Amino acid sequence: RQDRAIRPIQLSDYIGQSTVREQMELFVSAARNRHEALDHTLIFGPPGLGKTTLAHIIANEMGVNLRQTSGPVLERPGDLAALLTNLEANDVLFVDEIHRLSPVVEEVLYPAMEDYQIDIMIGEGPAARSIKLDLEPFTLVGATTRAGSLTSPLRDRFGIVQRLEFYRVEDLSTIVRRSAGILDVVLDAAGAGEIARRSRGTPRIANRLLRRVRDYAEVKFDGRITAEIARQALDLLDVDNVGFDMLDRKLLFAIIEKFAGGPVGLDNLAAAIGEERGTIEDVLEPYLIQEGYMMRTPRGRVATKRAFLHLGLQADFDLTGA
Ligand code: ADE
Repeated sequence: RQDRAIRPIQLSDYIGQSTVREQMELFVSAARNRHEALDHTLIFGPPGLGKTTLAHIIANEMGVNLRQTSGPVLERPGDLAALLTNLEANDVLFVDEIHRLSPVVEEVLYPAMEDYQIDIMIGEGPAARSIKLDLEPFTLVGATTRAGSLTSPLRDRFGIVQRLEFYRVEDLSTIVRRSAGILDVVLDAAGAGEIARRSRGTPRIANRLLRRVRDYAEVKFDGRITAEIARQALDLLDVDNVGFDMLDRKLLFAIIEKFAGGPVGLDNLAAAIGEERGTIEDVLEPYLIQEGYMMRTPRGRVATKRAFLHLGLQADFDLTGA
């Protein structure tokens, strides 16, 4: 696998997200010139948009090491303390899924972020005492799909907050062409456009589809990817003409056919399609909502007229204006 090669390693190779890129270029060069650690940085947004990639780029641009962990992996305060005490000056500690930190671990993080200090307990029972340890200055880079699930004391300790958005088709197209160059795949502009258009605004999906379309083009044709070959391959993969996969369609079908178009509560919807509610919230609905296929209302999820039309279904009530 050439995932490493496909990931950009500097900000100048990071395509799209121009506001994020420009801001990070500025903050990184300012911190570098001062020989300081970059301020703690929170990156949030749907899966696959490049949060981890951006964290690695930040460390690379700062010229420091990156240590990586994730919220659920840090079970005890000592797990975090071990990582923190091993950092070198200005290193990046990347905590993925930071909204899933346990409260006791989060407590250790506050003084670490604020004052580069931790309190650790030595011994047990009546002889136990706490000692303060100084840490090297460091940058916490936290990533989460749900900024709303962070506690406010944690959120308030990030000096930089970046939200990643779904990518425009033109940017995805550039990403696909760049990846094709790295993978030595020949694809024309229309072929890249077809993959980009069906990638749900998400580079991870675009790069995955590129590999699968390459398989198809190599086995059925001479390996070159054109729009027509991309279309055939993506149809075979059950990725429809707007990029929805089976699960996206299953979700929309469920709202429409099992719940008369909604509104339906998240738990009922999750049960109806046999997925976890977190998968619906984090993975499925953000793109469907952005593209206007469903809505989140106070009474539950609703399918829009666009969803009915896309699935070729008749609405048995008046949807004018919906
Ligand atoms: N791969 C994932 N995200 C990317 C981006 N923003 N630019 C280039 N390649 C990427």
